[in-house]
Amino acid sequence: MSRNIAALLILILVNLGNPVAAAPSQDQCEACHKDPHFYVQNRKLYVYYQDWLDSPHAASGLACSNCHGGDSGSSDIEVAHTGVLDLRDTDHMLFYRNQPETCGACHAEKAAQFKTSKHYAALLSDTVAPTCTTCHRAMNRRPYYRDILVDACATCHKEDDAENIPLITNQVKEYLQRLNIAKGYLGWTTVHYESLGWPGGSKCEVDAIRKKYEDAVTRVHSFNLAKMDESSTEILSELKLIFQKIWDERNKKEPANQRD
Ligand code: HEC
Ligand code: HEC
Ligand code: HEC
Ligand code: HEC
Ligand code: HEC
Repeated sequence: MSRNIAALLILILVNLGNPVAAAPSQDQCEACHKDPHFYVQNRKLYVYYQDWLDSPHAASGLACSNCHGGDSGSSDIEVAHTGVLDLRDTDHMLFYRNQPETCGACHAEKAAQFKTSKHYAALLSDTVAPTCTTCHRAMNRRPYYRDILVDACATCHKEDDAENIPLITNQVKEYLQRLNIAKGYLGWTTVHYESLGWPGGSKCEVDAIRKKYEDAVTRVHSFNLAKMDESSTEILSELKLIFQKIWDERNKKEPANQRD
């Protein structure tokens, strides 16, 4: 009998100490940080948490500790915060120079492209240059709208800086615009074929073009203007062709329907 109790105790203790036992829903960082009282007690915490709430990261179940460190299994503030560093600490996972590694743990291809860019080189040589969150913001609530990005570029790429930093905002605006339009066509094409139950080889065709679109977005991170121009032109013209094909098929059908 006493043996059974001892075994039970051991079981409980083992589970308490085992990080695997802490399911994502028991993440203590979030459990504490979501407290609405912070609206009054610590407005900054409240604002950051709200920003986090409808981010793609929250939606895909990331933990605060993925980017901030700390012990997400503890509800004790001291214990939980052990390892949560000050953002200015050069060892912080989110210190601007370390972000390509931290974010790149999950966004490997973007980080790899980014590391080929002049931005990364500048970052390493302590020149003022953008890192991941300069363009995507902290908690990623509004990560990549074209106008926000172009505004972000303009903070450094100003006309009067033309000597030091190449003037690129107008060109980039055009390339990002192409990607935006391509995204629109891609969405429309997907919805169209889905509504028809994916006839013929349409599923493969759409999957392939989506992959190409994603590659074009990934390649943006090299910030090589010629490459951006090339890949955004290519993806947009391919999607326009598909769109045209669908349009022609529809028009072929419609006059026949009208005659009935
Ligand atoms: C029991 C409540 C509680 C838990 C658990 C908790 N925090 Fe906090 N956190 C706070 C409070 C309160 C603050 C405000 C500053 C302070 O009092 O230390 C804060 C501040 C922070 C800050 C900002 C630090 C700054 O300098 O402003 C970060 C980042 C943070 N927490 C991350 C985390 C992470 C990551 C975890 C889990 C590993 C976590 N917290 C767990 C209550 C908590
Ligand atoms: C994808 C990475 C990522 C995740 C996951 C993440 N954060 Fe952050 N967080 C950041 C970045 C980057 C900053 C700094 C940006 C800035 O200065 O505004 C930041 C800043 C903060 C700050 C302000 C810290 C300071 O010293 O100014 C708080 C508080 C915070 N985060 C809390 C949280 C909490 C709570 C969670 C989980 C619910 C969380 N974060 C999840 C990336 C992340
Ligand atoms: C632990 C893994 C992980 C880390 C670390 C991480 N992310 Fe993410 N990120 C994801 C997942 C999962 C998604 C949602 C699925 C997707 O779109 O890839 C996502 C989505 C995004 C998106 C939106 C993509 C979209 O399709 O809408 C951006 C932008 C982004 N992350 C940037 C960052 C930045 C910047 C950092 C570093 C501060 C970071 N991520 C750190 C896993 C991570
Ligand atoms: C100088 C600005 C800039 C920097 C720095 C930057 N990005 Fe991006 N990022 C962009 C642009 C522009 C896009 C494409 C937006 C679009 O048209 O969809 C993008 C797209 C993304 C996406 C995909 C979003 C989607 O729509 O699918 C992810 C994820 C991402 N970036 C992660 C990162 C990571 C990780 C880093 C750091 C290694 C980083 N970015 C650095 C500008 C930047
Ligand atoms: C924080 C400052 C900063 C921001 C923000 C910034 N850049 Fe840069 N950019 C630089 C620096 C520094 C260089 C490197 C200049 C050099 O080495 O010649 C650079 C170089 C470039 C180059 C390389 C041009 C060439 O000669 O190959 C391109 C393209 C570029 N940036 C595009 C962008 C875009 C697009 C954005 C916004 C999405 C952006 N930059 C945001 C600082 C910035």
